[in-house]
Formats: sequence, structure tokens, C-alpha cells
Amino acid sequence: MSSSRMEVGEIREAIAEQFHQPSSMLGEETLRLVTEFLAALNRGELRAAHRDEQGGWTADVVVKQGILLAFRAGTLTRKEQPPFFWSDKSTLPLRTIDPFQHNLRLVPGGSSIREGCYLGQNVVCMPPMYINIGAWVDDDTMIDSHVLIGSCAQIGKRVHLSAGAQIGGVLEPVGAVPVVIEDNVLVGGNAGIFEGTIVRQGAVVGAGTILTRTMPVYDLVKERVIEAGPGEALDIPERAVVVPGSRPARGSFAHQAGLQVYTPLIIKYRDEGTEARTALSEDLR
Ligand SMILES: CC(C)(COP(=O)(O)OP(=O)(O)OC[C@H]1O[C@@H](n2cnc3c(N)ncnc32)[C@H](O)[C@@H]1OP(=O)(O)O)[C@@H](O)C(=O)NCCC(=O)NCCS
Repeated sequence: MSSSRMEVGEIREAIAEQFHQPSSMLGEETLRLVTEFLAALNRGELRAAHRDEQGGWTADVVVKQGILLAFRAGTLTRKEQPPFFWSDKSTLPLRTIDPFQHNLRLVPGGSSIREGCYLGQNVVCMPPMYINIGAWVDDDTMIDSHVLIGSCAQIGKRVHLSAGAQIGGVLEPVGAVPVVIEDNVLVGGNAGIFEGTIVRQGAVVGAGTILTRTMPVYDLVKERVIEAGPGEALDIPERAVVVPGSRPARGSFAHQAGLQVYTPLIIKYRDEGTEARTALSEDLR
């Protein structure tokens, strides 16, 4: 391995080879590989998932392996990263913790953007928020306070992730497609999107809506049920407006007790009213 910048092909080959090696075999060469790999993710030359022309999303197994290799190759170290520091009243000191005694990994906050993620132009990040390794965050996206963008999540252009929105990550299994939020999506406050769900372009996920692979989504407009088949992602159609709903829980006991279970509903497809309600003021940019 030369000391100049590694090409993407070279990085991929080295990851595929070193991923299967026992930890005891990982040395200086792996550390350099990981540095090069994270830098390639930062630059967007590598990506955790790819969209094909038919709109299918596929996980890049080697990238996932690289991230897992990065975790495995590192040793526990204590770091300070200027200009970040912490301050509070003298009566409220921080607990002194020896991280080595507790084997503690204290990930820095309020807002953190981890090495090894792609950031486009004009992204706005309101604290506290967290962007994890392998994530892709494209141009003009707004990330409001208390948003989590999980590992390998793919966020498109002009997406609005409202306060408290949780975008789940997925590292393992390495073949699993991460959560994908395509261009121009609005994710409302406190919504949660997990388990490789794909939200197609222009969709609106209403405040408080939870989406996972195990939840059927009832489309009231097209009168159909959208479900993730075995090994497939839950796929929210373009411009769908999804809100939290409920349906009767199954079984006579639930029926007698009048119980409901939560279920996401597509109540409409985006129209002018939705545009007006979801428009982001340019002043905020
Ligand atoms: C989804 C959302 C954008 C509304 O979209 P919209 O296209 O303007 O929806 P409409 O007002 O036309 O409502 C259509 C129907 O859905 C219902 N509806 C709308 N939003 C709903 C919600 N979140 N939960 C339940 N029902 C909802 C309306 O009551 C209406 O029902 P009706 O036809 O029986 O009267 C809005 O509810 C939302 O969640 N916005 C995100 C808010 C947010 O988190 N902002 C963050 C920045 S502060």
C-alpha cells in the first residue's frame, strides 16, 4: 500500500480482504485504510446505498463492512476537540469519569457529525442533532433540533427533518438497505422512520408518524394496503401524505374492550395546501 491517497477501488479491495481477518491481524495498515475510507465517505466517493434507474435502493455491502471494520480496528482513546468544550454552574460540576475504568464511549454532543458521512452544500443543522457514520445528507437539507440521522441513512436534497424526527440507522446485516428519504420530503416533528423504510420524493410524513417494516400502511386515496414483503423495504410512494391513524385490534378480547392499534394512513397526496403548510422560509436558510 503506497502513502499517497488511495483510490476508491483500492479501498474497496482492501476492506473486502481485511473485513474477514481476525482483530489480532489488524494493524497500522488497517488504521490507514480506515482513515482513507472515512475520508472517501466524507467526500461522497463511497456511499452506503445506491439508487438504480428503476428507483430500487441497494446497500453497498463493502461500505457497511468498512464501517464495521472501522469500529473493530479502533482502540479506546480520550479526545478533546477544540473549539468544543463544556461549561456549567460551579455547583453543578460534571462527573469525573475515567473512561477506561468503565470502558465508556462518551460520544461528543450536543451536535455531532461523525467522520465518514457525506454532507452536501447548504445543509442547516440546529442543535442538538446527530449525524452518524455512513450517512448521506444532500444539498439544502434542514436538520432541526433533536434529530437523529442513523448510520448509513440516505437523506436527499431539500429534505426537512423537523424537530425530534428520528431516522433509524442500519449497519448489520451488511446487506440491509438503510432508511432512505428521497428529495423534497418533509418529515414532521417527532416522526420516526426505521428499518430500511424508503420514503419517496416529495412525500410528507406527518408529525408523530412512525414507520417500520412491520407496519402496514393504509392508503385511503388509492384504497390499498402497502406492506413490506419478505426482505423488502416499506416503500412510501411519491407525494404521499402519511399521518398517524388507528384500526381495530384483532381478536374478540380486543373487540370487546374496544381496543385500537396504531397504524399509519395515507390520507391524501400532496396538493397546494400541503405545499403551503410545509414550505420552508428562505429566511431560515
Ligand atoms: C401532514 C401535514 C403536513 C398536513 O398536510 P395537509 O396536506 O395540509 O393536510 P390537510 O390539512 O389538507 O388535511 C387533510 C386531512 O388529513 C387530516 N390530517 C392532516 N394532518 C393530520 C395529522 N397529522 N394527523 C391526523 N390527521 C391529519 C386533516 O384533519 C384532514 O382531514 P379531513 O379531510 O377529514 O378534514 C401536517 O399535519 C403535519 O404533520 N405537518 C408537519 C408539522 C411539523 O412537524 N412541522 C415541523 C416544523 S414546526
